[in-house]
Amino acid sequence: MSNSYTGVAAAAALALGLVACTEARMPDRADGAAFFAANCTSCHGPEGRGNGPLASGLATAPADLTKLAAANGGTFPEAQALAYIYGDPVQGHLARVMPEFGGAMAEDLVPVEIDGVLTPTPRELAALLAYLESIQE
Ligand code: HEC
Repeated sequence: MSNSYTGVAAAAALALGLVACTEARMPDRADGAAFFAANCTSCHGPEGRGNGPLASGLATAPADLTKLAAANGGTFPEAQALAYIYGDPVQGHLARVMPEFGGAMAEDLVPVEIDGVLTPTPRELAALLAYLESIQE
């Protein structure tokens, strides 16, 4: 009895998992928060304020990511922020303290309006955009 129940439950869970994976869902703030927690908080801190555990040992202080819009006249600098996170290929030769994250992103592009232009954007970057915009003060 319990064996067959377990089997049914496992099959149902598998089916749900497949649906979740194949569903063409746009990345949202929660996806971005998860990527941020896994890749960014060591330097930028749990709330993006630039006070992560590694911050004090860096040559340049990590930016306070809640102030990006305020520093840009009240508008979140979408293209600029995403280019910096992904790693600008043109400026890649310049010294920068923060690592580039383009290599950690799958080539799964979703359409995102960035600075008013619909732009094919890596899924992880689109999620980060939603998250970062949500923490602006
Ligand atoms: C190893 C530490 C470190 C990690 C990890 C890190 N950053 Fe940074 N970040 C920095 C530093 C330091 C700066 C300041 C510029 C520089 O020196 O590179 C910065 C700058 C930035 C900027 C530019 C801010 C501006 O003023 O334009 C953004 C946006 C940003 N980080 C987002 C992120 C995101 C999102 C992640 C995770 C995907 C991340 N950072 C991971 C250290 C880090």
